[in-house]
Amino acid sequence: MSKRKFFVTTALPYANASFHVGHIMEYTQADIWVRYQRMRGHEVHFVCADDAHGAPIMLKAEAEGITPQELVARIAAERPAYLNGFHIGFDNWHSTDSPENTELSQDIYRKLRDAGFIDRRTIEQFFDPVKQMFLPDRYIKGECPKCGAQDQYGDNCEACGAVYAPTELKNPYSALSGATPVMRESEHFFFRLSDPRCVEFLRGWTQNGRLQPQIANKTKEWLEGGTGDDQGLADWDISRDAPYFGIPIPDAPGKYFYVWLDAPVGYLASLKNHLTKTGADMNVFLADPAMEQIHFIGKDIVYFHCLFWPAMLHFAGTPYRVPNNIFVHGFLTVSGEKMSKSRGTGISPLRYLEIGMNPEWLRYYLAAKLNANVEDVDFTPDDFMARVNSDLVGKYVNIASRCAGFITKRFDGKLVQEFDADGQQLLADLAAARETVGRFFDEREYSKAIREIMALADRTNEYVNANAPWELAKLADREADLHRVCSVALNAFARLTRMLAPVMPATARKVADLLNHDFGQWDDIALLERIKPYQHLMTRVDPKLLDALFEPAAPESAPAPQAAAAATPEAEAAHISIDDFGKVDLRIAKIVSAEHVEGAAKLLRLQLDIGEEKPRQVFAGIKSAYDPTTLVGRLTVMVANLAPRKMKFGMSEGMVLAASDESGAAPGLFILSPDSGAAPGMRVK
Ligand code: MSP
Ligand code: ZN
Repeated sequence: MSKRKFFVTTALPYANASFHVGHIMEYTQADIWVRYQRMRGHEVHFVCADDAHGAPIMLKAEAEGITPQELVARIAAERPAYLNGFHIGFDNWHSTDSPENTELSQDIYRKLRDAGFIDRRTIEQFFDPVKQMFLPDRYIKGECPKCGAQDQYGDNCEACGAVYAPTELKNPYSALSGATPVMRESEHFFFRLSDPRCVEFLRGWTQNGRLQPQIANKTKEWLEGGTGDDQGLADWDISRDAPYFGIPIPDAPGKYFYVWLDAPVGYLASLKNHLTKTGADMNVFLADPAMEQIHFIGKDIVYFHCLFWPAMLHFAGTPYRVPNNIFVHGFLTVSGEKMSKSRGTGISPLRYLEIGMNPEWLRYYLAAKLNANVEDVDFTPDDFMARVNSDLVGKYVNIASRCAGFITKRFDGKLVQEFDADGQQLLADLAAARETVGRFFDEREYSKAIREIMALADRTNEYVNANAPWELAKLADREADLHRVCSVALNAFARLTRMLAPVMPATARKVADLLNHDFGQWDDIALLERIKPYQHLMTRVDPKLLDALFEPAAPESAPAPQAAAAATPEAEAAHISIDDFGKVDLRIAKIVSAEHVEGAAKLLRLQLDIGEEKPRQVFAGIKSAYDPTTLVGRLTVMVANLAPRKMKFGMSEGMVLAASDESGAAPGLFILSPDSGAAPGMRVK
């Protein structure tokens, strides 16, 4: 087979949040594929980057009182712990907020403009009268115009995948202020996707058999439109008005590229940054007809990658070229539960690592469940434990742990190279299987690859059981048989390891050391000659670990601390970082009303003005210390970003801070007051 050359990416994660386990699944899927291709001797450039731009990042940074660049840098600094922890081997990690990306995005735009694909039109757009800014798509919510799903964002529907303009939403509202947005005029730039040249190109590109059938069908629906008012591709609004964190549009002051214009260009920016480090030129790289450009993505961003992105690249022309393929995966759910886009759920990847769980357990489990279809994958703790313990420990590692000791103790680590017929057949079948298994990896049919490998592990164990080396070891005249059986088993183990190497690179390295063998290549491997003393390879999943993984890190409403507890070393050692503190949004609040709550012994109902459109309702346990009438008009401090809590008496949308003596020696509760000059809504930090 001739040597292939790949440029492989995963989707660029938004830089306003930490990775969740869904990201880890995407990277694991791509990483396994990349490792396999490299084992076949192919050249792979595997890159990713932070998707830094856009309104959410700008607004989040603003809320935290830092610059968007600072926010992005903070998130970027976390990335290596996850990537190294799960053995994700990107060659480069870059950012869309980079000189390369600015240059490339502007270049692509200019080429599209010069080819007649950019229109300027004055449009009416939603404007938030409270926030005094044009509302970014994601901050307008309403009902999906296509399927009617509630609470959908202004750019695309998470329920049916449709992409539309925010003005098409039914019953829109501002997610920033809750206000009903008003229409205001502004000039916008459009990529003319409705141009017949574009439609024709995309028909060809999406329907020529390269895409997964499900994806080809979906893009066909989008391209051809349905019935009635669904007219196929609409032109794509690629500009946003200041204030916006993004790349300026050339010759258009105050206008920025919409984040989804420069985000995929970030693939090229990262590639360019990577190639430059090795002294190579990206344009030369892209001009190589043998190069294959592959993007791994999730099912929610197909429209951007299968329509916008190829069209941008195709019509921008040289040096750009369209992707060879887009590999789309489904979503990871945890015990059937969907992961929230911003928070993730169920499993924290860092906690997984911190409590000492083996990253290769997860890689293996995901591989055992992934295939080439756009299907969701469910992680359930029991299934995970059963899978890892029975396959990896019970079948695979078991082979080595049962046979290696005899070779070391009885034969000085040396193996024989002449086998019985059964042993020869087993090794021949293992060698032959590598073509089938390899094809499965190449086709992203990982679950089939794993099934095949485990069937061969079963056969190896049957061979060992049938020959019972532990019995042979007791018989003085069976030394040669013992030697032969253990040699066969360890050679089989080597072949199994080689096939598992894309999934479990760290274990493969350990085994390589143990067996004095290299698993860097997919080719058949020579017979083993000598091994080192057996070292423990992998532990079983302990159910206690899974309990720890799913245990909430801190209970949501901790019981009031006891006087003695405050002095324990744990309490003293519990430092938090400035970043942790930064997560607490403290605001100056004006108490606009305070009243008793019928049926509540301790609570007062407060209405707090923090500079928002409507005051917040907060229930505070301060009834014993304050007459509500004395509170009205006072300024105090509240936690503004505490998750709203539904209480018996209504929603509580924050928390008021109060001091108290935990020992009980000095009774009373004391709310805080700022110095004069502080105004409602000011940030406290
Ligand atoms: N920033 C955009 C992508 C720009 S690509 C030029 C984005 N970011 S994201 O952080 O929301 O998602 C990054 C990737 O993670 C996407 O491919 C997305 O499909 C994937 N996943 C998000 N949640 C997921 C799961 N629950 N399971 C598996 N993959 C998931 O979209
Ligand atoms: Zn919808």
